[in-house]
Amino acid sequence: MVISSHPVVQSAPYEQNQDLTSPNRNLTPLGTALDDHHRLVVGGCTLSELARTYGTPLYVLDEATLRGTCRAYRQALAEHYPGPSLAVYASKANSSVALSALVASEGLGLDAVSAGELLTALRGGMPAERIVLHGNNKSKDELALAAGHGVTVVADNWRDLELLAELAPGLEGPVNLMLRFTPGIECHTHEYIRTGHLDSKFGFDPDQLETVLRHLQSCSWARLTGLHAHIGSQIFELQPHRDLAGVMADALALARSLGHPVSDLNVGGGLGIRYVASDDPPSIQQWVQTVAEAVVEACAARGLELPRLLCEPGRSLVATAGVTLYTVGSCKPIPGIRTYLSVDGGMSDNPRPITYQSQYTAVLADRPTAAATDTVTVAGKHCESGDVLLKDVTLPPAVPGDVLAVFATGAYNASMGSNYNRIPRPAAVLVGGGVAELVQRREQPEELLRYDVLPAHLAPIT
Ligand code: LLP
Repeated sequence: MVISSHPVVQSAPYEQNQDLTSPNRNLTPLGTALDDHHRLVVGGCTLSELARTYGTPLYVLDEATLRGTCRAYRQALAEHYPGPSLAVYASKANSSVALSALVASEGLGLDAVSAGELLTALRGGMPAERIVLHGNNKSKDELALAAGHGVTVVADNWRDLELLAELAPGLEGPVNLMLRFTPGIECHTHEYIRTGHLDSKFGFDPDQLETVLRHLQSCSWARLTGLHAHIGSQIFELQPHRDLAGVMADALALARSLGHPVSDLNVGGGLGIRYVASDDPPSIQQWVQTVAEAVVEACAARGLELPRLLCEPGRSLVATAGVTLYTVGSCKPIPGIRTYLSVDGGMSDNPRPITYQSQYTAVLADRPTAAATDTVTVAGKHCESGDVLLKDVTLPPAVPGDVLAVFATGAYNASMGSNYNRIPRPAAVLVGGGVAELVQRREQPEELLRYDVLPAHLAPIT
């Protein structure tokens, strides 16, 4: 559907300070602009017109930004890593058939952590050999689904190995396996999204690595192809990723010395993005260069043949491409305290503020450059006092019906969404070249009842 009938006449300030090569460093999608009415435009589509056409809340995903991040990872790997490489999209950040298809078309792989994410990836045409299945408590059905399709399983613990051994006789060939271990690396991010330190539910303890590797020597059903570690998420520091290379190269040396022809080293994801102006994450190029050089150095120091380098970006691939649109409703000024401006979504479509106290940046879609004279707290519509999307932010005076655009909402918003208060999930559209396409249709309130079962003795008497 063509949404933007107005030529884009002015782009400042939205194209200023945009890093065209590393969208994770920008607040807004690439090419965000203003139309001739000074309304905000993303992917050539005027946001308030999208809101009118598709309703709100609405997730808008910009195709050029998504492709830009995929290409940035691929190009940086090709430039800085002399061996083979593969960027694998951590689809927990935003899982949909359309995104899986887009990422597959850019030549990336995909990390799934459940049957649902795996089926979504396969439906999107992601080749099974480019998919890895993660999870600290995979079910036997999930393992069977993955192994049956030839997906690489990342063994996280002994239970995975036991279940796979049980499944193996029914499989056509050996299972491609990676071993995940906890690297014991601390980094500065929210404690809920730190995974590399030793007190983590994910992966084998490093002390157990040798025992597991020896155990696998006798497992003819398994082909150990790689080692995996992930240190956390929304990380701005580069040093922990450098340190990780050394820890992983030690593990690689050990695995190879025990006769496992391990070819893949998967260093996980974690690169942060800009949510507010003061955030200053490294670029994708800097991150990849750091990781690639550290792996090359660590392998050279140990006399190891270079492995294939895998990384698993989630947030930095999709966050900045996403803008969420809401409609402003009620306003409650509390003199001397604060003014609550309520919108028609909230913690069910973006649980990150209430979960991690995450901050966001927002503008009024039709007056993005108007003077931001009011300090308001943007609240959601859920029955929970903590359902606040933006605390004490400045906006131009807003009235009911105004469309609010919240930036950098492409990662861990839809995917962590819920139906709290039985609020339906928003629609999602992919925009590019002035065209918007629906990639997830809006859930309807009646659909929320589809799994309810009414026991006969509770049936209303009619
Ligand atoms: N690989 C593994 C094994 C992971 O566990 C994760 C993220 C990633 C890759 C991708 O990390 P990224 O590049 O996105 O940082 N819900 C939290 C983030 C949780 C991240 C979980 N694992 C949030 O909203 O901030």
